[in-house]
Amino acid sequence: MLNYLKILLIAGVAAICSFGACNKEKAEEPPQTQTTLFERLGGIDTISALVDQFIVNIAGDEIINTRFAPTISDPARARLFRLNLIDQICAGSGGPCTYKGLTMKAAHKEMNITQAEFDALVGDLVSALDQLNVGEIEKKELLRILGPMQAEIVSR
Ligand code: HEM
Repeated sequence: MLNYLKILLIAGVAAICSFGACNKEKAEEPPQTQTTLFERLGGIDTISALVDQFIVNIAGDEIINTRFAPTISDPARARLFRLNLIDQICAGSGGPCTYKGLTMKAAHKEMNITQAEFDALVGDLVSALDQLNVGEIEKKELLRILGPMQAEIVSR
């Protein structure tokens, strides 16, 4: 009889656990950790719109817009720059893109970019993120991905 009760008890616990009630950690995990930053940003459409706004902001930024004048005034060059930025943000945030451009070191070589210029460009990106109503968490995550590139870009 005692053995029969034991078997019933074990079977009962196993049944409850199989419905997930025993896996406390899994049940409490926030859904956010299961999706990539790419997905939470809104995918390729939001990233494309973000890059477009970013370029508009750069073009209007008196601290750095002369740097980008040759790029912006040449449609083929502007198109490639835009696509490289989209791929870079898409790939960096866990999306299904491959960045095919130069390394940050090679792309900015001999440009003598200053810290003030770098900060201005990051400011233009932050403005674009705000203009597109990107959430604070996603904004910080994206800046945390791009921020370390500073070491390869700023050279004076
Ligand atoms: C986190 C900061 C930055 C990122 C992620 C970034 C990203 C890029 C990328 C992806 C390219 C294209 C590379 C290629 O053609 O293969 C590029 C090119 C370029 N970047 Fe940056 N950049 C940053 C900061 C800056 C700053 C601070 C400046 C100057 C103020 C700057 C000026 C340029 C210029 C002039 C080009 C050449 C564009 C062209 O091809 O005509 N970048 N950058």
